[in-house]
Amino acid sequence: MSTHGEIKRVTTNTLQSMKQRGEKISMLTAYDFSMARIFDDAGIDVLLVGDSASNVMAGHETTLPITLDHMIYHAQSVVRGASRSLIIVDLPFGSYQGNSKEALNSAIRIMKEAGAHAIKLEGGEEVVESIKRIISAGVPVMGHLGLTPQSIYKFGTYTVRAKEEAEAEQLIQNAHALEEAGCFAIVLEKIPATLGKRVAEELKIPVIGIGAGKHVDGQVLVMHDMLGITKDFSPRFLRRYLNLYDDIKTATSKYIGDIKSKDFPNDQEQY
Ligand code: KIV
Repeated sequence: MSTHGEIKRVTTNTLQSMKQRGEKISMLTAYDFSMARIFDDAGIDVLLVGDSASNVMAGHETTLPITLDHMIYHAQSVVRGASRSLIIVDLPFGSYQGNSKEALNSAIRIMKEAGAHAIKLEGGEEVVESIKRIISAGVPVMGHLGLTPQSIYKFGTYTVRAKEEAEAEQLIQNAHALEEAGCFAIVLEKIPATLGKRVAEELKIPVIGIGAGKHVDGQVLVMHDMLGITKDFSPRFLRRYLNLYDDIKTATSKYIGDIKSKDFPNDQEQY
């Protein structure tokens, strides 16, 4: 609580302090008002309006098709639902690569139209110019290295990244470049735990992992995976806390059955 009795918002400074005192950071994706409200109420530190919305909300195979307008729509809904969490929004594919002025404009649209608190973008040294330009406008930036799904057609597969020494060294170099450019935190996706540990130890800023082992400063999962809504996705790093696909299916079957059998609505459920 703040001195005015309102709920105290998690900020980028809060995350930095958490790293310094060794408190792990909790982060989940969210794309809509209702789920954001539940996660916020449960005490999640960070909500990421991920471009994984392209997969789990829109049903695309990759994150490439989602647009800046779509991301802003999801972000607006999440912002309305959360009063405590720090809300970070992904810059989608095509809204920042290769053009720092466009990157800045995209970040400004997200901050202005959605009321988000920070943006995330994928890549290393090649996006440093954009990161510096966005930060110079007062917008906090989170980096993202390792498996970067917007580059899936360059990688060819979703397998673990940076297993070989050359790629691991490149990742470490990129992580330092992002920190020096002014990122307040980075996400590391699907890399060996030993590499995640090394990056978290070398960087002063928080390192949040998804499939990057237990030694990083915090963890993020896609909400549909954590809640067991996605069914055919079982990477080693995923811990499912519910099996909502089956639970929702069972409930829906029961609902259908109750209607067909004329059990619903009953006398108490009508006017
Ligand atoms: O879009 C997303 O959900 C992400 C997480 C996997 C970190 O970037």
